[in-house]
Amino acid sequence: MGNTVAQLNPDLVGMAYLIATLFFIYGLKGLSSPKTALLGNASAMTGMGLAFAITLAFPSVGNYGLIFAAIASGAVIGIVIARKIKMTAMPQLVACLHSFVGITALLVALGTFLLDQLNNTVVPLITMIELTIGSFVGAITFAGSIIAFGKLQGILSSKPLIFKHQHFLNLVLTVAIIVLGIEFLMHHNATTLVIIDVIALILGFLLVVPIGGADMPVVISMHNSYSGWAAAATGFVLNNQLLITTGALVGSSGAILSYIMCHAMNRELYKVMSGGVGLHAVDLEAMERESTQAIKAAAVEDVAFLLENASSVIIVPGYGMAVAQAHHAIKELYDVLTEKGVSVKFAIHPVAGRMPGHMNVLLAESDIPYDVVFTMDEINKDFAAVDVAFVIGANDVVNPAAKNVQSSPIYGMPILEVYKAKQVLVSKRSMKPGYSGIDNALFEAVNCSLVFGDAKHTCEMIVKAIRGAA
Ligand code: TAP
Repeated sequence: MGNTVAQLNPDLVGMAYLIATLFFIYGLKGLSSPKTALLGNASAMTGMGLAFAITLAFPSVGNYGLIFAAIASGAVIGIVIARKIKMTAMPQLVACLHSFVGITALLVALGTFLLDQLNNTVVPLITMIELTIGSFVGAITFAGSIIAFGKLQGILSSKPLIFKHQHFLNLVLTVAIIVLGIEFLMHHNATTLVIIDVIALILGFLLVVPIGGADMPVVISMHNSYSGWAAAATGFVLNNQLLITTGALVGSSGAILSYIMCHAMNRELYKVMSGGVGLHAVDLEAMERESTQAIKAAAVEDVAFLLENASSVIIVPGYGMAVAQAHHAIKELYDVLTEKGVSVKFAIHPVAGRMPGHMNVLLAESDIPYDVVFTMDEINKDFAAVDVAFVIGANDVVNPAAKNVQSSPIYGMPILEVYKAKQVLVSKRSMKPGYSGIDNALFEAVNCSLVFGDAKHTCEMIVKAIRGAA
């Protein structure tokens, strides 16, 4: 590809690539705030359009009929998915897309090597190193993302799969990849490369299976980063500068996001990378234990009474609010309570829902003012003084096991400390656990009552009860 680029006028190509990179950088910057997100998206799309046009102009690119047929079918699939996908299913879509990048990097590396062998091309050592790295990072990304997809989609259990000597096995596989990698660089044997990739696939699988549901956000952002580095490695293999810079942008922004997520979840980055998140003596039997405590169920009228007679209320939305699409009913509840002079605030956990900012987007959509929406760090100190904490479709992010049960997979993760409130009310449909699959002792606390039913219906009925009583 390097030669064909030269034929096309290297200055022009270099300039176009630079401009496309600037569009991508502005795209990332724009996505950091809801106000500039649309412009950021438009900027990234413009960059991609430019990259695309330049690629099509390469003299080596022929068979336009086949290329446009592939583009058209890809575009149709993309549009259908984008229109149909529910916001709650975005993480599994993202995991699926990461797996595409991973498998592409793996296949490009393998294909390039086999083609070079067929043509008896002498490949410089540095290209062989890039090719090896691209193929095994791609394999790890592919296998890990497939497992993440399965867990997020509910095809696989979200509980950690743990067995003896897991870390040791991971270490042995890593050492095997390094040893075989050196052997491959010395003797250029295709079978060795295939064995490296098979081991990398197994390693990708093993690094994600022990990770419990609650830690999946960190895993997804980590794979985001891996997919970027895999793309950058592919760029080196293909001698394409734009793919290198784009891959590096995705790789580094994914790494920064992973760092931020780790910080928010009180996890260490190296543990995520080594498949060790939450692995500290997880008591799987305790996770299966049936709750023996009495649960207090409250009627909608009781909840309405408690809320309208409180002077302060903190609403904690979670994944269930998104499932029920209860945010507009919650806005009505907010309106009716503030009309009655109740101080209402919202508390958002960094991983509430199924993607970063999930709750914020929904609350903004229902016109809840930004200034009553608080982050976990801002609001945790307020729970001890609040009259009512109303948990709507949240579970893991308010589970006190994260603070006091060392054997729990979520131990150490910061939570919204709703248990400190004078009264805790929880809207959910059943006694099923949250995403991490573990019981929540909050529901058995003396100051906690559960109002069973769909969150949207429950909130509408509460509003009705309060208005009816007025
Ligand atoms: P979860 O722990 O998943 O709990 C959701 C709760 O909502 C469940 O208790 C469920 O109970 C209830 N629910 C579901 N549908 C409902 C409905 N229609 N009406 C009322 N309640 C309903 O949610 P969370 O507290 O928001 O925690 C998020 C979890 O997802 C964390 O473990 C987090 O690590 C993980 N995760 C987050 C992300 C990101 S980046 N945010 C990405 C992937 C995974 P019932 O079934 O009994 O109703």
